[in-house]
Amino acid sequence: MELVGHTALVTGASQRLGAAIAGRLAQAGMRLAIHYHRSAAAAEQLCQQFIAAGSEAIVVQADLGDWQQTEQLLAHVHQQLGTVHVLINNAALFDPGGVDTTSQLVWQQQMAVNLQAPFILLQQFARQPGLRPQLNGSGGSDSTSQVYGKVINLLDRRVIRPRGGHLAYTISKSALWTLTRMAAAELAPHIQVNAIAPGAILPAPGASDEQFTRIAAAAPMLRAGTPTEIAESVLFMLQHDYITGELLCVDGGAHL
Ligand SMILES: NC(=O)c1ccc[n+]([C@@H]2O[C@H](COP(=O)([O-])OP(=O)(O)OC[C@H]3O[C@@H](n4cnc5c(N)ncnc54)[C@H](OP(=O)(O)O)[C@@H]3O)[C@@H](O)[C@H]2O)c1
Repeated sequence: MELVGHTALVTGASQRLGAAIAGRLAQAGMRLAIHYHRSAAAAEQLCQQFIAAGSEAIVVQADLGDWQQTEQLLAHVHQQLGTVHVLINNAALFDPGGVDTTSQLVWQQQMAVNLQAPFILLQQFARQPGLRPQLNGSGGSDSTSQVYGKVINLLDRRVIRPRGGHLAYTISKSALWTLTRMAAAELAPHIQVNAIAPGAILPAPGASDEQFTRIAAAAPMLRAGTPTEIAESVLFMLQHDYITGELLCVDGGAHL
């Protein structure tokens, strides 16, 4: 599938990994919808940066913890930029908690933002006329295997090697991995659904640098990854028309 001139929606794209992914896609010639929740100024700044570099870009706001706002997000982008060809489910919450310490609020928020929102967006994405010819009323099914749309879900290497400490987060990402495989099978051949599992890339806001450095150094590759390495992996997945239902760990071997 051609990426140049096609539209990508990246959730949580105002900063950190989302901004790096959006930047790489803009560089690859894609039109960008930069989603944000609270970071309006950062999203707007990034958008102006893309426009100044010759890309077409817009910002879109939504609380992905809210079913209705999430449902309206893709329609909103569709109205402004036309068909969304690439969906990157990047926005997430990363709250600590174990079996004994996970509150109802943390559980619900993690599931809403990290699992429910990617599901709703994937559903809305797949319902766009044109991405699955058999559904758009043009009559009959498209018997070719042409790819019209691609979805990438950002997971976590904890999905392969769960550890204590972020129970609801890890379960939400694990369920998103199941959704990735189920959707990939159901939506093939016209829509591909894949996942990237980062390892230690950037410390969580408020986390100590010392703890992050220790975790990063414990990976077989002995270091943290970079946002650029994640963005390049996303692009790699998007450039392949024969990979679907796959998980790529970009974690220096931390899942091993
Ligand atoms: N950083 C890492 O080392 C690492 C490691 C493993 C996996 N990952 C995964 O990679 C992805 C990106 O990581 P990151 O560290 O860059 O993420 P992050 O900074 O923790 O979060 C990304 C964005 O999610 C958005 N968000 C949070 N709650 C939201 C809500 N209720 N509605 C809408 N948006 C909401 C925020 O947008 P606003 O700022 O606009 O509010 C935030 O900027 C995540 O899926 C994460 O789980 C990252």
